[in-house]
Amino acid sequence: MLWVENLTGGYGPVQVVQGLSFEVAAGEVVVILGANGSGKTTTLRTISGMIHGRGTVTFDGTSLLGKRPDQIVRMGIAHVPQGRGTITDLTVEENLRLGAYVRADREVEEDIEQWCAVFPRLGERRDQPAGSMSGGEQQMLAIARALMSKPKLLLLDEPSLGLAPLVTREVFEKLESINRETGAAVLVVEQNAGLALGISSRGYVLETGQIVAQGSSEELSTDEAVRQAYLGY
Ligand SMILES: Nc1ncnc2c1ncn2[C@@H]1O[C@H](COP(=O)(O)OP(=O)(O)O)[C@@H](O)[C@H]1O
Ligand SMILES: [Mg+2]
Repeated sequence: MLWVENLTGGYGPVQVVQGLSFEVAAGEVVVILGANGSGKTTTLRTISGMIHGRGTVTFDGTSLLGKRPDQIVRMGIAHVPQGRGTITDLTVEENLRLGAYVRADREVEEDIEQWCAVFPRLGERRDQPAGSMSGGEQQMLAIARALMSKPKLLLLDEPSLGLAPLVTREVFEKLESINRETGAAVLVVEQNAGLALGISSRGYVLETGQIVAQGSSEELSTDEAVRQAYLGY
C-alpha cells in the first residue's frame, strides 16, 4: 500500500534521509527503529507532505511527493506527530473534531462517541482542555484524533516518548487492537524497540538516514546488534 523507494529529504541543503526504501502492506504493522537523530521524524514528515522529499513515495499506486499535507490526509494517511501535537487549549472533543476536518460525511458525531468508548479516559474528559490531561492521555487523544480522519495508514512518531513503561504498554495495546479492529495499517517509528517489535510483523533499522537492517520482528528481536542498541540487554 505504501511504497517508498530511494527517498531523500531534509532541511535546506542538509540531506537527513539518504535513499530509504521500505514498504507497508495494507493492514500491516511495521516498525522503523532508530536512535535519536537517525532521521525517523524526517522520514515521516516527508511521507505526510510536511517537508519536501525526492525519490518515489506511492500510496495505493498514487505518488505522494509534491502533494500538500491535507491532500495526503484525504488519501488516507494520518500522522500522529512526535510530542503528540494535541491543541492543549482546546477540549478533548474539539481536538477530536479537528481530526475530522477533511471529512464531508455526517458520521463525525458517531465516531467521536466510538473513540470516546474505545478510550474511556477521553470520554470522561471530553469537555476538559487537552492540556489538563496526563502525557499518556494526550497520546491516546493524539491517536484518536488521527483516527477521526478514517485513515488506511496511521503514522506514529515515537508514541512512547516521555511516557512511563506501564502507560507505554497501554498505548501499544490500544494500537494493536485498533489495527485488528479497523484494519488500518500502522507505521511506527521508535527508539523503544521492545513493545514496537511486539505488535509489528516486520521492521527496519535506521542509522544516519539509511536503512541498515530489516527483517521480521522476530528476527530483529533476536539480532545481536538490535538487542544491544534498541532493547538494552
Ligand atoms: N527543522 C530542522 N532543521 C534542520 N535540521 C533538522 C531539523 N529537524 C531535524 N534536523 C536534523 O535532522 C537529523 C534527523 O532528525 P530527526 O529526523 O528529527 O531524527 P529522529 O526523529 O530520528 O530523532 C538530526 O541531525 C537533526 O538535527
Ligand atoms: Mg524524532
